[in-house]
Amino acid sequence: MTIITPLSPAPKTYRVKSFGCQMNVYDGDRMGELLTQQGLSAAPEGADADLVVLNTCHIREKAVDRVYSDIGRLKREDGSTPLIAVAGCVAQAEGEEIMTRAPSVTMVVGPQAYHRLPDMLAKARNGERVTDTDMPAATKFDVLPKARKSGTSTFLTVQEGCDKFCTYCVVPYARGAVISRPFKDLAEEARRLVEAGAREITLLGQNVNAWTGENAKGQTVGLEALIRDLATIPDLARIRYTTSHPNDMTQGLIDAHGEVDKLMPYLHLPVQSGSDRILRAMNRSHTVESYLAILDRVRAVRPDIAISGDFIVGFPGESEEDFAETLRVVDQVGYAAAFTFKYSPRPGTPAAAMGDQVSIAVMEERLKRLQALMTEKQLAFNATSVGKITQVLIEKRGRHAGQWLGKSPWLQSVHFEGDVAIGDLVTVELVQAGPNSLAGRLIG
Ligand code: SAH
Ligand code: SF4
Ligand code: F3S
Repeated sequence: MTIITPLSPAPKTYRVKSFGCQMNVYDGDRMGELLTQQGLSAAPEGADADLVVLNTCHIREKAVDRVYSDIGRLKREDGSTPLIAVAGCVAQAEGEEIMTRAPSVTMVVGPQAYHRLPDMLAKARNGERVTDTDMPAATKFDVLPKARKSGTSTFLTVQEGCDKFCTYCVVPYARGAVISRPFKDLAEEARRLVEAGAREITLLGQNVNAWTGENAKGQTVGLEALIRDLATIPDLARIRYTTSHPNDMTQGLIDAHGEVDKLMPYLHLPVQSGSDRILRAMNRSHTVESYLAILDRVRAVRPDIAISGDFIVGFPGESEEDFAETLRVVDQVGYAAAFTFKYSPRPGTPAAAMGDQVSIAVMEERLKRLQALMTEKQLAFNATSVGKITQVLIEKRGRHAGQWLGKSPWLQSVHFEGDVAIGDLVTVELVQAGPNSLAGRLIG
């Protein structure tokens, strides 16, 4: 028997709330565009939206709990709720379970299926509750809207998924197998973004340097070929890419750092731990030595390159000596920036089932020590920039009247005053350094 429920009123406004990595932010923006295409408009800041998309992240602790409490908070004073869609990596992991636990949710959509959101919305208005966590063979990129708005600095997803299966990580399960978007599509999308105002493009991928494509001659090429192509776009000033895996750091890509001026001197290359024993248990498939050797090769072609990384403290079995080795690597590399995390057991990953889990108290204490050293290193890196005259790409207004915020080539935040505009590439002398930003003086 089919139950016919009348269509609920068409939602007029939407809000997409994205959590997690930049790729999720990129996906969130694409979902917004899809909804705009359906005639909805973004709800103004602070206003109630008819449709709320929670674009979730599953990478660390309490991700699932947070989603349920966010859903709870969407309840209005009169007890009603907006239409609620749960998207992203928690949607992929929890699927139908979300429908059971949260009756107010009408749509659950995984990261590889969100291009079907308009269809799901039509069904939801019909009173149906729909879950779509398929990973279809045809990629969402083929069906997403082509028109894009763009800020000064924008993201472009070139590669998605991961098949490295580090033992602590949910990404291979949440995002599926590796796919690279075609060279031609990316070259076109980048040009559209620049026409729409982008001056800097950051190429995104869970393993961005594993991207491969086919050039116009039908040859298989790596990320450096895409970078070299984008560098020919006249109004594009800067190119960046993230996140790279040490094992996919090819000589071709390293060479591009020495040869392509528009490729910024910045490399995010996570090592996770400074102990080979722990790296093996993590299934990272590189050693500390092979990691450091890559940095040497990059620095040989681009001596001023800024290095950043990700670190996990308290992986199962991590001893004080293992951790001390991590501190030694941090000291030796001289990171410009880093993300540091306490290990979080993820359901279904091999590491979650390993013995010898490290206590929360020990993890917290190690994290504190690592962060203290990192702050020291960041400050030291920024201090070496003082006195440099460099280009800053202006991204937004600062907190004070007349103040502007932008990024140096080394991805440092720089604040300064002057008669300039967002999107300008200006010459600035770096005059004072803190651990997280620099003060500058406008020169030209
Ligand atoms: N593909 C990227 C980023 C993956 S997620 C890479 O391989 O580097 C971003 C970071 O989150 C990882 O680099 C890792 O440091 C951290 N991370 C992933 N799973 C984690 C877990 N279970 N506990 C704590 N940190 C984790
Ligand atoms: Fe996760 Fe490892 Fe893949 Fe990065 S390389 S996404 S840490 S499995
Ligand atoms: Fe989080 Fe999924 Fe990104 S788990 S970090 S949103 S790939």
